[in-house]
Amino acid sequence: MTSRVVVTGKIPQAGLDVLVDAGITAQAWTNDVPISRTELLKMVSGADVLVTLLTEKIDAEVLNAAGAQLKAVCNVAVGYNNIDLAECSRRGIKVTNTPGVLTEATADIAMALILMVTRRLAEGERVIRGQTPWHWGMHYMLGAGIQQRRLGIIGMGAIGAATARRARAFGMTIAYTNRSMAGVALERELEMERMSLDDLLATSDVVSVHCPSNESTFHLIGAPQFARMKPTAYLINTARGPIVDENALVAALESGEIAGAGLDVFEHEPVVHSGLVRRDDVVLIPHLGSATLETRSAMAILAANNAVALAYGGEPLTPVS
Ligand code: DGY
Repeated sequence: MTSRVVVTGKIPQAGLDVLVDAGITAQAWTNDVPISRTELLKMVSGADVLVTLLTEKIDAEVLNAAGAQLKAVCNVAVGYNNIDLAECSRRGIKVTNTPGVLTEATADIAMALILMVTRRLAEGERVIRGQTPWHWGMHYMLGAGIQQRRLGIIGMGAIGAATARRARAFGMTIAYTNRSMAGVALERELEMERMSLDDLLATSDVVSVHCPSNESTFHLIGAPQFARMKPTAYLINTARGPIVDENALVAALESGEIAGAGLDVFEHEPVVHSGLVRRDDVVLIPHLGSATLETRSAMAILAANNAVALAYGGEPLTPVS
């Protein structure tokens, strides 16, 4: 008997085709609006393998609703903070993610946010769209140049490194903080040095967050960390919202402790802190890191290949360790 695969969010057709080509008739949610919790609990019932999006919280309740036969959860995202890993591991349920395929797209967005916030591009666009009177002037809407400025990367994984490469092309210098050393070759390539989080915060002109979201990184950037940053520095977050304490970020912006922020992710997505929305020194975009058709298709294909391997009792390509 073939395994029952349930896809709990709408994924690109290329991913569904992988399942069909492998002889799997999956049951798939077909709406781009995330599935409701009630629907999710119903839909997963009897599944052997789940293909999930980051919008679905996969916890004990969902695993119970699926049933004891559930053997794998294949997330269509590199991040997996939506999945209770400890609970999956306790039940012997394998978890996979989609590393690699979204690295360049996400680094593009991190670099775009750096340029947008330092050069006040969203603010400038609002002037034009709002038909606010303006004139060219030597002192009109001056931003901050990034050449020879330091980019501090928190989390030197693939996306952190890809962002650093882009920043180097724009003339920035790089520092990073990471649990382990990035490796001699990468340090040499990016001419960067590893330092403590505190030192990185105190010396960087732009700080960009690229670490995973988990218990140990929850509110990693909060009031004490903003207090360490330069008043001219900017914070960029394309990783996950809960890594940054949004109340503390609003307070830091209000008091002038930092100069601005560029955010693709939020603590309580899709809700965005009203204190951020009303500020001009903040660029806010709706979790677009991987949002190109090519990237989303590659993510869906990789997740589907993981699901096929696990459905047939094989080894997944990209297990979460
Ligand atoms: C991921 O894969 O974790 C990204 O946040 C999706 O854009």
